Parts: sequence; C-alpha cells; structure tokens
Amino acid sequence: MTYTTAYYLYWLDERYRFDAVARNPTIEQKFLHSLPSKDTISLVDVGAGSGANGRYLMEKIPANQQWVLIEQNPDFSKASLQVLQQHARHQGYTSFLEQDTLTLQTPTKTIQVNAKQGSLLEIENMTDLSHTDAVVSNAVFDLFTPHQFDTFVSTIARYQLIFLSTLNYENMHFSPNTPQDEKMIALYHAHMLRPQTVGTAMGPDCIPQISEILKKYKYAVDTGSSIWNIHSKDEKMMQYLLNFMESSITELPPSPEDTLLLQQWVKQKVEAADFTLTIEHQDILGYF
Ligand SMILES: C[S@@+](CC[C@H](N)C(=O)[O-])C[C@H]1O[C@@H](n2cnc3c(N)ncnc32)[C@H](O)[C@@H]1O
Repeated sequence: MTYTTAYYLYWLDERYRFDAVARNPTIEQKFLHSLPSKDTISLVDVGAGSGANGRYLMEKIPANQQWVLIEQNPDFSKASLQVLQQHARHQGYTSFLEQDTLTLQTPTKTIQVNAKQGSLLEIENMTDLSHTDAVVSNAVFDLFTPHQFDTFVSTIARYQLIFLSTLNYENMHFSPNTPQDEKMIALYHAHMLRPQTVGTAMGPDCIPQISEILKKYKYAVDTGSSIWNIHSKDEKMMQYLLNFMESSITELPPSPEDTLLLQQWVKQKVEAADFTLTIEHQDILGYF
C-alpha cells in the first residue's frame, strides 16, 4: 500500500491527541524553562509534517514566537500552514496567510510561521541559526541513520541551540500478548533496521544513539518516557497502526509463510474486541 498525501495528513492529525497525552511533562517543563526570556522566541521545527509539533508547543510558550517549519515533503510543507490556520480559527485567533508565511494573533501573543520545504540535513542553508533559540522535532529521528543525525547535531551544536526531540520510538507491546504479536513486532523492527542506500536507520535503537551523539557534541541530555496507550476501541488509530505495520512488513519482503501469518494476524487483530497496544517512546532534551 502506498499512502496518499491526504491519508498521511489524516494520520498525523489522528496521532496529535495521542502525542499530546504522551509527551513527558518533566522534559516539557525543562524545555520551556530553558528558553531565553525574550519578547519573541525563534524556533525551528524539523520534519514538521503538517505542523503538529508547532501547534502543540505554540500554546505552551507565553512569548511571541517566530517559527520555521522544515519539511522535506512538498505536499506536507504546502499543507502545513493551511492546517495550522484551520486550528487557529477553531481557537478563535486572528490569522493571516500570505504565500509561505502565516501570522496568528492570539489574545496574548503574535506568532509567525514560515514553511520551508527541504531536508533538515540542510538546516543551516534554510534558516538563520544565529537568530534561532531552539530546534524541536516530533517523531522524526528514528528514521535517520546515526551518521545523518551526527551531521545534523554537529550543525546545531555550533550554534549552541536547545534541542527538544519528542516521541522517539523505542518499543511496542500488545496486551494480551501472543507469540504472533511478538513475531510481527520483530518483523516491523527488522523493516525499520533494513539496509537502505543512506545506511541503516536508528529505528528502535534510536534513544541511546541520539543521547550518545548529543553528548559527543557536549550537550547535557535529559530523557523521559512518552507512552501511547491505545485500546482496540480507538479504532481509527489502531487501524492506522496496523496498516503501517502491514505495509512496512510487506516491504521487507517477508517469506511466504510470514506473509500468510501477517495476513491472518492483521485480520485477527481487526476482529479482536478487547486488547491494548502500548507504544513506548522517549522525549529527549539537549541543552548546554
Ligand atoms: C512521523 S512524521 C512526523 C511529523 C510531525 N513532526 C508530527 O509530529 O506530526 C515524520 C516527518 O519527517 C519528515 N522527514 C523525513 N525526512 C526528512 C528530512 N530529511 N528533512 C525534513 N523532513 C523529513 C517526513 O516527511 C514526515 O513528515
């Protein structure tokens, strides 16, 4: 299955509330307190998708804000300001969208958001890091190789930028748990760790690797868990996750026996009435 832009944007929207509940409050508070006391804070969200991370953090930061959203996919980048404007309207904020800049006026602050399409590995060429206070990301870096992440950190460390990386994937468990569940999780992890032209992504091993690379560039690092608890009654979210697992495992490709097992497993999960899926993530804060 290949995902259309619309499908992926619905999925990002659906995960927003699970992320919001999961985010680690201690890491979040520490991040908010580490921001400088200025009238206007400048932030860059990398791998911004439809802008969900900015949307969440904008509400938490009391000062005026200038955001740059860096997103590789041109369709998501284009959609992000419209999605943010829609949410701002729901909040009753005044909004003004002109080309690639959205300006929001809340009762207490002005927020400007600029969408830039391109790779976060080119961050230094895409925005003025010397006038940036913090770089944030949500659910991004497990997709990257250690080498790519090292290159990225070496850049932001030169500017001594605060770095908040939330919802970094670690592991998952079904409850009740069956041997088939374990098998499918192992295949899903094998897909994350498959050889790619750029190398092997950090995948489920990303937490120690992210921490280690940040420390290499003299960051102090704090981590805290951010866990999704999803019940089979959360039908939409569960369906999205099962679809992701199925299409990822299919890409491996699995053996004929595992293909059959996968099809039976997905069918059985879709029909099962009462089970939970716990997805463990970590939020990571890097600072000087
Ligand atoms: C799981 S989504 C998370 C999106 C968003 N941060 C959120 O919380 O909804 C990961 C995003 O990273 C983007 N991405 C992947 N590689 C990238 C790169 N090299 N530069 C910029 N964005 C990238 C993908 O296109 C996707 O939108």
